[in-house]
Order: sequence, then structure tokens, then C-alpha cells
Amino acid sequence: MNKSQHLVGVFDSGVGGLSVLREILTALPAQPVIYFADQAHVPYGGRQLTEVQAFARGITQYLLRQGVELIVVACNTASVAALHALRQEFPAIPFVGMEPAVKPAVEQSRSGKVGVLATEATFHTSMYASVVERFGQGITLFEDPCPGLVAQVEKGGLNGPATRRILESALIPMMEKGVDTIVMGCTHYPFVIPLIQQIVGEEVRVIDPAPAIARQLRRMLEAHNLLVEGQEVSVPRFITSGNPIQFQDALYLLLQQKHPVGRVFWRDGEVCERA
Ligand code: DGL
Repeated sequence: MNKSQHLVGVFDSGVGGLSVLREILTALPAQPVIYFADQAHVPYGGRQLTEVQAFARGITQYLLRQGVELIVVACNTASVAALHALRQEFPAIPFVGMEPAVKPAVEQSRSGKVGVLATEATFHTSMYASVVERFGQGITLFEDPCPGLVAQVEKGGLNGPATRRILESALIPMMEKGVDTIVMGCTHYPFVIPLIQQIVGEEVRVIDPAPAIARQLRRMLEAHNLLVEGQEVSVPRFITSGNPIQFQDALYLLLQQKHPVGRVFWRDGEVCERA
């Protein structure tokens, strides 16, 4: 692959990072992008951080072999678990990572009560604790991991009864406490924002960090002379370590896009082209 094309790698445990990719494609349509879904291992949220770190490392090595020059970790769990280690191990590669958007939520909340939906793993990291420590002073945070929600989004269950049950049991207690702002701390969750708004009402603010991530990506690309602009729209490449047909269906459901999807395999901690 030609390195001069300034390829950006975007990865997640599955389809969640597509909520970030959607914003990247809108903001930077000419930038060549490869999206990697680690569906052999989804969900990441209940796993040990060391395990998620090993996945993030294997995926990064694979993306570098594809010629990527910048990586977006479009997964909160992988970001809080592995971003620090990735930056240390691959110092020549710029990384853009996710951080639960507590700061903008605190700025926008009037009641001083903010809900955060993120995976169990994310809530248990020192990175999340540090975000709360830095930006959460003087407000009350209500946290919920929404067990099972990642799996629902993976299978396209965006508004069925099971998804509604998971969200209601997280959100109704938050509403009773006076929460007026809710942070999407997992990249799978923005796909259920319409259902969330149905449950909590339109006056509650729901914060999807993806547009801010796309802006951050533009700044990083500019800073590293990697920005590709122009009239030509670049078609993203898609790779999964799971079932490509299932990914294709999800891609159509979530982004209304139809593209070929490549398949890769994990062997001894490495991503390989063949089983
Ligand atoms: N989408 C990911 C996140 O932002 C991971 C969800 C999961 O695999 O549990 O946290």
C-alpha cells in the first residue's frame, strides 16, 4: 500500500466505532480511512484491561502493516485501557483516543446532575477516575454500564424491547434523581440516542463525543501534515475479525452504506490475513 496517501486507521471492538467514523466521513470526506472491528472479541467491556491492551496492540501492528499513519482508537474501553501504552510503544504514530465527555456535560448541565453510560471496564480505570477528578468537581455523576447494550447494538437491536429494558433500567433512576445531561461514554451507545431521547424526553441533553473527535482528528492531521482534502470522496476500507456478512448488515443499518468487508484472524496475539 502507498504510504503517501495518509491512511487513517480507526478501530473498535465492533460496530461502535462507526459512530465515530460517521463523523469522520462527514468532516473529512477525502481522507483515506481503514476501519477495523475486532468482533472476534466483542464485547471488550467485561474484560481485563491487560487483555484489551493486548488486542489494541495487535490491531495497531496490523494497521501499521496496512500503511496507516495515524490511528483513532474509536473505543472508550480500549482508549482508557491502552492508549497510554500504545503511545509509549509506538511513539512515531499519532493516536486520537476517546475520553468520557464529562467536561462538556458539566459545562452544559444546569441541575449539576449528569449521567454517564459506559462499559464496566471504562468505569474501573484510573483514566476515568482522573476525568471525574479533573472535571466532575461540584456535580453529581450517576454511572451505569448498561449490561447487554453493546451486544444489542452489535446485532442491530436499536429499538427492540430488550434494548428498551436495558436503557429504562439505567435511565429512569437517573431521571428521578434530576439528571439533565447524559454522556455517551461508549461508542456503541450513540446508535441508540433516538431511543434514549424517547425515554428521557427531548429536553435532556445527550452528549455524543464523536463530532469533537472528528475535529480533534482534523487538528492532529494538520499538525502532522497528513490532512487530505479535495473534491474526491474516499471510500473507506472495512475489516473485521468476526463475521464479514454480519458486519456488512450492521454497516448498512447503522451508516446506510454498502461496502465489501475483509476478514482477518487472530493467531498468537497477532492479526493475520489467513486462519
Ligand atoms: N465501543 C466500545 C467502547 O466505546 C467497546 C464496547 C465493548 O466492546 O464492550 O467502550
